[in-house]
Amino acid sequence: MEATRASVSPSVLFVDQSGQLGGAEFALLQLAGHCAAYSEVVLLSDGPFRTRLEALGARVQVISDARVSGIARQASGWNCLRVLPGIFRQVRAIAARARDFDVLFLNTQKALVLGVLGKPLHRKPVIWYQHDILTRNHFGRVQLTVVKWLVRFAVDQVVVNSQASARSLAALTGVAADSVPVIYNGIDAAAFSRGEGADGAIGAIGADGVDRADIAALRHRLGLPADAWLAGLFGRLAPWKGQHIALDAIARLPGTHLVLVGAPLFGEDAYAQRLHEQAAALGIADRVHFAGFQDDVPAWMSAMDVILHTSTEPEPFGRVIVEGMAAARPVIAAAAGGVTEIVRHRHNGWLVKPGDVGALAEAIGTLRDDPVLAQRLARQARDDARSAFSVEQYLEKMTQAIRRVAR
Ligand code: UDP
Ligand code: GLC
Repeated sequence: MEATRASVSPSVLFVDQSGQLGGAEFALLQLAGHCAAYSEVVLLSDGPFRTRLEALGARVQVISDARVSGIARQASGWNCLRVLPGIFRQVRAIAARARDFDVLFLNTQKALVLGVLGKPLHRKPVIWYQHDILTRNHFGRVQLTVVKWLVRFAVDQVVVNSQASARSLAALTGVAADSVPVIYNGIDAAAFSRGEGADGAIGAIGADGVDRADIAALRHRLGLPADAWLAGLFGRLAPWKGQHIALDAIARLPGTHLVLVGAPLFGEDAYAQRLHEQAAALGIADRVHFAGFQDDVPAWMSAMDVILHTSTEPEPFGRVIVEGMAAARPVIAAAAGGVTEIVRHRHNGWLVKPGDVGALAEAIGTLRDDPVLAQRLARQARDDARSAFSVEQYLEKMTQAIRRVAR
């Protein structure tokens, strides 16, 4: 009886370590919302993510432990030992919930560790959605070693958010990169298409088919200058997301404004403070708009003339890039990691070398001065976002992977 039900729609316990809204959490939000009737979500810390899940009808349980939450990505072996009691408590609590479900779906690395350590207790098949590029640039030696052994011996199925993430897994564990299913994040194109006119014309200022009054009204509502040329950079404020590179580039482009949408989600407050100081020191504070975290990203993207992506380390996937494309905006992105699987240079966007201020400034200048080119890239970007990164493909592949592992 159980086997028959599992082959239709296995019940799933999702686990995510964060209560904040990062890209991995937005990806889980869509999946857990889709599976709400036969799943539950365990979060290892509380926050706005819980509220968003519950609004979609998902059942959520928060199993937090301040000591375990405080473990850093670069944690030493000694630090890990000190939090052992907290780890055991969470392992047991997750395992106790997992017993009631067909599959345990782990969405972050701490969730992976805690969910897999309890396998002797819950004995459920485990699937891990790997959102990261697993290298020493991002993670400590201890953490990578733990992930390596868990993947080799205890995870039933890994799925990855890009080929770049798969290659890093292969390098770490020795599994063949092409044996790991790539499941790209899905972006809701309908939600991002509000900037288009009724005839499908793309709302870029100064280009054909644009209702300037609409854009001006939108900008007024968002507190942005109506007439300025706006470059938007979306994402949490963190050194590797490279907001400082964007500031340096904008300083080289008189008259161009930069809108930073996002907040420091994981304790990078000192970096956020440095960005304000950098803008002041560059004498561009009046051209830089710190918007903080915004829920209505589609509206904010529609108000931009170009969307920037400036990560200085290889981006595992980069939802904000596909969102900018779905919003029919020209996107300039840092060519590394999963980004090169999304953006094709001069075809559906513009690629620049990561961390290269000169190249970024030149690219922004090129698209600002050539609205016809920007418009052409934006149209292709919108089409590619719809065809290659739909929510439907994402949910379909994810539910297939879950079914396979439940057998
Ligand atoms: N985002 C948001 N509000 C903000 C800034 C970002 O909702 O103010 C969203 C953004 O739309 C995207 C996600 O946060 O869906 C960031 O995901 P991405 O994969 O680009 O980067 P990550 O933070 O996961 O590395
Ligand atoms: C991670 C990555 C980001 C990716 C997201 C969703 O947060 O940093 O690049 O888009 O997961 O898979």
